Amino acid sequence: MLKRFSLKKHEEKAHNPPLKKEELKGEVKVTGLPPIAIKESAVKESKKKDEKIELAPLKKEGIRLLGTYDFISDNIPITIKIYKKKGEFVPVYEVSISSISKHTEIILEKVREELTAQVSLGMVDILTTKDTGVIEQRFMDAITTLVNKYFPDADETTANFLKSYLIQKSLGLGSIEILMDDINLEEIAINDAEEPVWVYHVKLGWLKSNIMLASEDQIRHYAAMIGRRVGRQLTILEPLMDAHLRGGDRVNATLEPISVHGNTITLRKFAAKPWTITDFIKDNTISTEAAALIWLAVQYELSTLISGGTATGKTSMLNVVANFFPPNQRIISIEDTREIQLPKFLHWVPMVTRLPNPEGKGEVSMLDLLVNSLRMRPDRIIVGEIRRKREAEVLFEAIHTGHSVYATVHANDAHETITRLTNPPIDIPKSLLPAISMIVVQYRNRRTGVRKTFQIAEVLPDAEPNVLIQLDIRKSVLKKIANSKALVNTIELFTGFTRSELNRSLSEKEAILRWLAKNNINTVDTVGRVMAEYYTNKDNLMAYVRKNKLLGD
Ligand SMILES: Nc1ncnc2c1ncn2[C@@H]1O[C@H](COP(=O)(O)OP(=O)(O)OP(=O)(O)O)[C@@H](O)[C@H]1O
Ligand SMILES: [Mg+2]
Repeated sequence: MLKRFSLKKHEEKAHNPPLKKEELKGEVKVTGLPPIAIKESAVKESKKKDEKIELAPLKKEGIRLLGTYDFISDNIPITIKIYKKKGEFVPVYEVSISSISKHTEIILEKVREELTAQVSLGMVDILTTKDTGVIEQRFMDAITTLVNKYFPDADETTANFLKSYLIQKSLGLGSIEILMDDINLEEIAINDAEEPVWVYHVKLGWLKSNIMLASEDQIRHYAAMIGRRVGRQLTILEPLMDAHLRGGDRVNATLEPISVHGNTITLRKFAAKPWTITDFIKDNTISTEAAALIWLAVQYELSTLISGGTATGKTSMLNVVANFFPPNQRIISIEDTREIQLPKFLHWVPMVTRLPNPEGKGEVSMLDLLVNSLRMRPDRIIVGEIRRKREAEVLFEAIHTGHSVYATVHANDAHETITRLTNPPIDIPKSLLPAISMIVVQYRNRRTGVRKTFQIAEVLPDAEPNVLIQLDIRKSVLKKIANSKALVNTIELFTGFTRSELNRSLSEKEAILRWLAKNNINTVDTVGRVMAEYYTNKDNLMAYVRKNKLLGD
């Protein structure tokens, strides 16, 4: 039954265009490169020792295309075809390098072998290379000489493309690098050398790729290389590794015989596009009125907790809230796994905790980072999740010393949030709670799976929550259910505004939010730029909003 359902889902995808163009960020149409001149003597069948990319003839019967798109991975034009094969339960994700003929590929393979013989590739670390953009000169020289030798008539573009191809094939994670560059993939899983690499596609779920790793040794080599990069070792005695790469991608590796079928690598890619308030308004996660209230509170530095059950969208909401920060304040974020993404131009220091090494050394805990962050003179502190008493104590201490704090808590509603904070294991005194001005609760409907904002509450001086706005679950709309007794007073106190000035500010914000949604301004950078304009040059921004024009038009 389950299988039938999932097949049906793919069929539906096949009828609709499965991938929207605008979602394929960085997509470049490949028009094909000029024909490559080669020396006849070079054409010799060379046996493939490395990982294999097997292409299936697409016109064959029993194959139904679910989607196709192109992108560029390190100068190399890539084409992806996703199709269902008769008799297979899982669709195939087929990678092909659009402008390389079989013929050229054979020569390149020969060049690669010659290259491997000339320079010791083990010494060149592609991950460092990717970060720094510098390839060891010795290696680059060898490649250039070989490309000139075998492809004497290639123009500059073609030569660069061939060099990139050789670099990608010879260094680092080989074809896995291509998968890492497909923004439609969330996860890449290597289970062993016997089966193809699996990929998790944003829209289509798990797919089997046409990439096979050559041997268990090769998987182990890749895992070791990633490990070296982050200072971890993977050995018979320590066959498990969990690591974060610089860009925020997460890697887990296990060695046989602990993973029974073979060595594994699981790569979880950092979310390509974080949520913004624009997405939330367009998807009806939140109303513009409720969003404007949150924005107002955030603007004037009121500390806020985001709560909700597991996977209700707490971290996503935290990211959305942090997008309201002004550009002239120092922000420190502290997380276990790097999830928060803020506009590049903000004054922001992201920090992540570290687990102890196998000897129990080198741990950097959330508490360490919190205590340290107070010495870094932040204006705003973002904390991934409050779990323990000491963390909560330091966090409240931070609020009392004039910082504004944004954190998530695991709780289903505003009342439960207070209960969670004032009972073990967090167990902080009730008297501290009014330091938190606002609680935003996220919710996921378990029947429909839809995620929404469930409550916006304030904390009264006696530490009781007062729910101001709540979701009418049946009608699926947010409704005002109480007047503010604390939040608005605090903002008045912090700003000297009258009630009517605050109302004006709220309606201005609503107008901007509607304008963001109407014009689909929905990346953290573009939303951040609008916020920066709002805080530094509001009249100018409002003129654009009133005329419904884009900034700079
Ligand atoms: N408003 C929303 N609409 C649709 N999907 C959403 C929404 N908010 C979050 N999601 C998606 O829900 C998933 C869980 O989101 P997120 O990680 O923010 O939840 P969380 O509550 O922080 O989870 P956890 O309990 O694991 O910390 C993610 O895939 C995210 O993209
Ligand atoms: Mg989370």
